[in-house]
Order: sequence, then C-alpha cells, then structure tokens
Amino acid sequence: MQTSFPKGKIEAVLLEGVHQNAVDAFEGDGLRVHHQKGAAEDAQLADLLRSAHMVGIRSKTQVRGAPLESAERLLAIGCFCIGTNQVDLDAAAARGIPVFNAPFSNTRSVAELTIAEVVMLQRRVFERSSQMHAGRWVKSASGSREVRSKTLGIVGYGHIGSQVSVLAESMGLRVIAFDTAAKLPMGNARLVGSLAELLAESDIVSLHVPATDSTRGMIGAAQIAAMKPGACLINNARGSVVDLDALSAALREGKLSGAAIDVFPREPSGRDTDFETALAGIGNVILTPHVAGSTEEAQAAIAEEVSGKLLKFLNTGATGGAVNVPEVDLPEQGTIGGERVHRILHFHRNVPGVLSQINNAVSEIGANVSSQTLRTAGEIGYAVLDVNAGDAEDVRRRMDGIGETIRTRVLW
Ligand code: NAI
Repeated sequence: MQTSFPKGKIEAVLLEGVHQNAVDAFEGDGLRVHHQKGAAEDAQLADLLRSAHMVGIRSKTQVRGAPLESAERLLAIGCFCIGTNQVDLDAAAARGIPVFNAPFSNTRSVAELTIAEVVMLQRRVFERSSQMHAGRWVKSASGSREVRSKTLGIVGYGHIGSQVSVLAESMGLRVIAFDTAAKLPMGNARLVGSLAELLAESDIVSLHVPATDSTRGMIGAAQIAAMKPGACLINNARGSVVDLDALSAALREGKLSGAAIDVFPREPSGRDTDFETALAGIGNVILTPHVAGSTEEAQAAIAEEVSGKLLKFLNTGATGGAVNVPEVDLPEQGTIGGERVHRILHFHRNVPGVLSQINNAVSEIGANVSSQTLRTAGEIGYAVLDVNAGDAEDVRRRMDGIGETIRTRVLW
C-alpha cells in the first residue's frame, strides 16, 4: 500500500531473535529490516532507534530513558510477548508512539502444559522418572492417582484460566474457579466467591493471575495451610504470586503432595545460567524455566500477531490492541471522486477543546472530510481525519499548529 513515504525507507528493527514470520511480514510489505538475535543494551539500542520507524523486542530490551528519547523517527513499538513493562508506556504515549503486544498467542501453550502437569503431579511421574535416571526401579501405585473426578481450582479465570477449564473438564475433572472480576464459567465449571473457598475444595490449585499488587504473595503460608491435605499447587503465572519458602516447607512436611512451578521471584536473565530455588531436590516437584508459554507455535503466532498490528498501524493508522494510546480501528482509506483521500493521524494531549480546534482547522479552509474519529484514553487523544487529497497538507499544517498536538502523520 502507498504511504506518506516510500516503504523501502521505513526501517524495522527486530531484536531478541523475534520469529522469522515477523521478518517475512515486514519485508513482504516492502520495509527494510534489521534483525538481530540478542537484546540491545542502552548504547546500541539508542544507536538502532535513532533511525528506526518500528522496533520489535521481547522481554529483555528496555525501551525507556535515553534510547527512547533518541528515537525521533519511531512510529510504534512491538512487544513480541505478553508483558509490556520493559517499555516506558507513558513516555511512549506522550510521544505519540503506540505499543502493541500479543496477549493471546501463547494462551494455549500455557493451558496445555498446565493440563499435562495436573496429570504428571497426580501420577508422580517426574519423581518416578528421576528415580529411574538414578538407577532405581520403584514400581508402586502408592500416591499415584487418576485425575478423573478430582477438583481443579483455577485462580484467575482469564484467557489462560478459562482454556485450562475447558481442557480439564474434558478429562473428567471438576472445575471451580475464583476471579476478582465477573466471569462467565465455561461448561460445567463453577465460580466460587473467595480464594479461601477455592483452596478448601481443590485437589489441585492452578494459578493464572497477573503480577499485580493484589496478587503479590497471594499464596503464602496461611493460604497453603488452608489447602486440602495432599493437594498440589501449579504456578505458571508469575513468580511474585507464591511464597516459595512456605511452599517448600509445606512440601517437605507432606502437607502438599506436589507442585509444578514455572515462574520464580528472581529469574536469571541469561539462557543457560545457574539457578537456585528452595524447591530443588523435593520429590514430585516439577520445575521449568519460565517456558509455559514458550512453544514454536506460540512464537510463530506472536510474530504474526504483533507484526500484523504494527503494519496495520503503519498502513492505516489503526491502533487496535495498543496498550498505551486510545484504540481506534480503521478501514483502509476510501476515495472521493475517484481520488484516494488522505488520512491525517493526530495524537494530542487530552484536554478539553482540541476537537473544536480540529473542526475549526477544517472549516476555516472548507476542507471536505469524509470520515472523522476521535478517541481519548487517559492523557492522550487520537483523532483521525480522512480529507480530500487537495486539502490534506493545509489541514495537517493547521492541526500541527494546535498547542496540544503531540504528533501528526499523513497517509496517502
Ligand atoms: P488475563 O488477564 O486474561 O487473566 C487474568 C485473570 O486474573 C483476569 O480474569 C483477572 O480478573 C484475574 N485476577 C486479577 N487479579 C486477581 C486476584 N487478585 N484474584 C483473582 N483473580 C484475579 O491473563 P492471561 O492471559 O490468562 O494470563 C494470566 C497470567 O499468566 C499472565 O498475567 C502472566 O502473568 C502469566 N503467563 C505466564 C506465561 C508463562 O510462560 N509462564 C505465559 C503467558 C502468561
């Protein structure tokens, strides 16, 4: 699609080995791509961002401070992952730079691993396997159970929690769930009114809440004490949610019969690094290095989802799925009298009176507007005007002159 300037001059910088599907998507749309395997530290990042129009990162590259300030051409940031706290979202918004992520692309991967762990914990498979690796043949049914008719308690019934719910019921588990928000339970799942109620009823508790103030330390000694004797705990959510010392004590005492933990309060940043945890060496504990959402399918899907959102923003101005600016979904520009209209994208500070100033800018020159959209969220407003090609430059100049303007871009 034609844009304000030739696609070949638009540079996308993709860091941290973002999946090849993203490279293909950008190159397929005519962009220049810099693709590197590792993250970029401040100095290199500032260097790369100076000329970049799009940047794609995963969880390690910190887009904030000096590198972000140096990014004068940057139009949008893509986090090829779920989390966005590695980006200074407010600073980006204040510059009219939307940030996109992939909130659902690895949902299924986490749900599948969770279900597998439910079975593995109930059958004590990892413990049996470790014994075999150590040369021991422990053939016993003791402590090995079917999952059918056991109660799975899901804490956090969002995207992942509700997928786990559906898969678990199909294997014959009874599902109960607790969420602070109102939720529609899937299938025969039942919502309970409190965490305490869920803990008291569940044979397996699986956590699927985000890392927030309200979930920090949500499962500590008191909550573990409130669980059923011999129950199992699964945490594939965030490391801040569970007190691992309390969990370790409960497992060693036999209060709980097993745990599967994928996320830790302190996680190494490197790929192949030494690691210590209070849970090491305890039987029937499955430890994984924050890989619940890391599958080849998820990486491919994330690459498609985020590159799709970035390209849609580049080509149409649509901000659907942005986490820091108002979301506006837009079709491609239409035509007036056979001529393609020009689209003016205007990020501004959200204070009263901007819309009337925009309307003045249009009416002063009698510009022909075929479509107008305005959305605000927090401190940012986003106005999109489709205007007659002949009027676009004049309208843009006037909109640039509005005191609250953050950034204006024209698509033609
Ligand atoms: P989501 O936002 O769709 O669902 C989270 C749910 O938790 C929401 O329904 C929310 O209302 C609920 N919630 C929030 N605070 C709560 C509280 N105090 N008590 C009970 N419920 C509460 O998020 P999604 O996509 O289901 O992901 C859940 C978490 O899984 C993510 O926040 C992330 O931390 C983690 N995750 C871990 C991965 C891994 O590789 N281990 C990969 C992907 C996500």
